[in-house]
Amino acid sequence: MTTATGERSRRPAGYASRTTARYYDAQLRLERRALLAAIELAAPGIDDVLLDLGTGTAALPALLAQRPGHPRRVTGVDASAAMLRRAPPLPDGWRLINADARRLPLPDASVDIVTCAYLLHLLDQPGRRTVLAEIARVLAPGGRAVLVTLEMPDGLLGRSLLAPVQTGLCRVLGQRSGWCALDPRGDLTGTGLRLRSERLCTRGYTSLCLRLEGG
Ligand SMILES: C[S@@+](CC[C@H](N)C(=O)[O-])C[C@H]1O[C@@H](n2cnc3c(N)ncnc32)[C@H](O)[C@@H]1O
Repeated sequence: MTTATGERSRRPAGYASRTTARYYDAQLRLERRALLAAIELAAPGIDDVLLDLGTGTAALPALLAQRPGHPRRVTGVDASAAMLRRAPPLPDGWRLINADARRLPLPDASVDIVTCAYLLHLLDQPGRRTVLAEIARVLAPGGRAVLVTLEMPDGLLGRSLLAPVQTGLCRVLGQRSGWCALDPRGDLTGTGLRLRSERLCTRGYTSLCLRLEGG
């Protein structure tokens, strides 16, 4: 794992602590459907350079690694070294970097695909807009990005039972808890990223997947 920022001195607001990291994977199956949808929307080819922002314990790269013809070059970035340490073994040549998604240690136009799952809804609006600007900066011409954020539960059971619980958790625990739903479309203005398609996943966490195109 590469460390690109002093983790102790500059921990961003939404970073996952060691305790969170220890228990994080227990809930991964609730993310699985949305992560698979994100991979499908991103449609990575073997020669694409893929960057996964807020990769955590590398759940998305781990699912991607199971697909035949997966990209040869994948980088996961997370502000929490504790989360990255819990990543499973990944294919040769894939790397995990301990860095802040608001200041990516990557050159302009160096990535074909950015995935960003369950990170933006942890951040305040300036933080989200900075991350989106970084995504636009590192994407090569014709590149694409897929964002996954938590949505409000839908359906009869979702609306009557789960949504009030989620709203309550968001209100009591705050945005950094990860329980506040977010539709990031409103944050795209002026970033140079354009919405191409969207998908709502209702199995597991209700999640919105947006496929965007860079400049
Ligand atoms: C809810 S987890 C999602 C992890 C993974 N994408 C997944 O779907 O399982 C959010 C992750 O974003 C990371 N994070 C929060 N703020 C960050 C930032 N500014 N830069 C990079 N990572 C950040 C946290 O440390 C945490 O690992």
